[in-house]
Amino acid sequence: MPEEDDFTVTPYAVEGDIDYDRLLDRFGADALTEGQIAAFPDPVHPLVERSVFYAERDVEPFLDAVSEGSTHSIVTGRGPSGPLHIGHVVPLYFAKHLQDQTGALVYIPFSDDEKSFLKDVSIETISDRSRENLLDLLAIGFDPDRTRIVVDTADADVIYPLAVAFAREITQSTVDATYGDPENVGLSFYPAVQATHLLLPQLVRGRHPTLVPIGIDQDPHVRVCRDVAAKQRYDVDKPGALLSKFLPSLGGPGKMSSSDEAPSILLSDDRETVFEKIRTHAYSGGQSSVEAHRKQGGDPAVDVSYQLLYYFFEGNNERMEQLASEYRNGSLLSGELKDIAAEKIADFLDEHQQRRQQLGPLEDELQQYRLTQLERETARNRAGYPDNSLTQQ
Ligand code: TYM
Repeated sequence: MPEEDDFTVTPYAVEGDIDYDRLLDRFGADALTEGQIAAFPDPVHPLVERSVFYAERDVEPFLDAVSEGSTHSIVTGRGPSGPLHIGHVVPLYFAKHLQDQTGALVYIPFSDDEKSFLKDVSIETISDRSRENLLDLLAIGFDPDRTRIVVDTADADVIYPLAVAFAREITQSTVDATYGDPENVGLSFYPAVQATHLLLPQLVRGRHPTLVPIGIDQDPHVRVCRDVAAKQRYDVDKPGALLSKFLPSLGGPGKMSSSDEAPSILLSDDRETVFEKIRTHAYSGGQSSVEAHRKQGGDPAVDVSYQLLYYFFEGNNERMEQLASEYRNGSLLSGELKDIAAEKIADFLDEHQQRRQQLGPLEDELQQYRLTQLERETARNRAGYPDNSLTQQ
């Protein structure tokens, strides 16, 4: 009998000790190759170089477009169910980095509808959280001329007709097989909405390579969307994907998530809170006494403070090697490593929070990132709505 996987990864649940290689077999995605890594624009972002983004679907058309200087876009988004933690912003900061390097168009959808189907939270609460999350998104500093932010319920004039068109292509049995039995009809329909997000840059700008950098939990949505694109009823290419491992939970391996027992580190945490959370909760790969640690050393591979630095917060490879070797040989203690990680994360958050404080009122700031009237009409036309359709108001 084949061995049963003892972990779950879907857009709606991540549980157990994830075997990332086995997950690729299960999902049918490919590990990123050395050649593909080297084809990313120079300098290659540490998230790619260190295989945090470790897998892909059709990444090459995107990389070719980057090197030819032709149109290419990135889509990555957020379901505003609560405050943002540092794991949520990994794909967003990565998208910002690529946009700075290549001039990529970046589309950022907010699935406030999805989260109201999923969580036991009122629509009012989700709406408040959307506003808070949007301010954090704006603080990242995307280029307004090349970036579009859409909120499902606020941009329903464009999202809804497109999702209706794509929903016709997705059978209920595909949804059941991909996500498990949906809890309500909203979740049955939602894959058509996320398919809309992933195809939106092409509907607005015409056919071109799109890359979707996301945590691997979101890959099922990519698969459904690629099936819709493959039906060739719309003039779009299948979007490519770049899939990441999860920034670990403070409590040990597994995904940092708001529903963890150990607290997650929030974008709004001040320095003191970051130090307190890491000192108290970060799982350590060190020994139980200083004496034993000095003798036997620690294991960076399971140490969450080390992993947080490696995954995202310390970009310097020599520094990472130095920390790993000092930790292994026992000269660097767990408490010291925790403080190094806390310092780096707190610095990152300080800068983020300062940019957020400098923003004006949300509506004013958001305006420059919203789809123009022409972009809305173009997208609806490309999805088959004629010029005389009542959607073209
Ligand atoms: P959401 O809001 O659950 O998560 C936002 C993004 O953060 C990633 N993520 C993580 N990455 C690394 N480490 C972690 N610990 C971690 N936790 C979460 C998620 O994989 C995701 O990429 N349905 C989406 C929102 C969405 C979207 C999209 C995303 C709507 N349309 C189009 C990408 C493209 C969601 O609920 O993500």
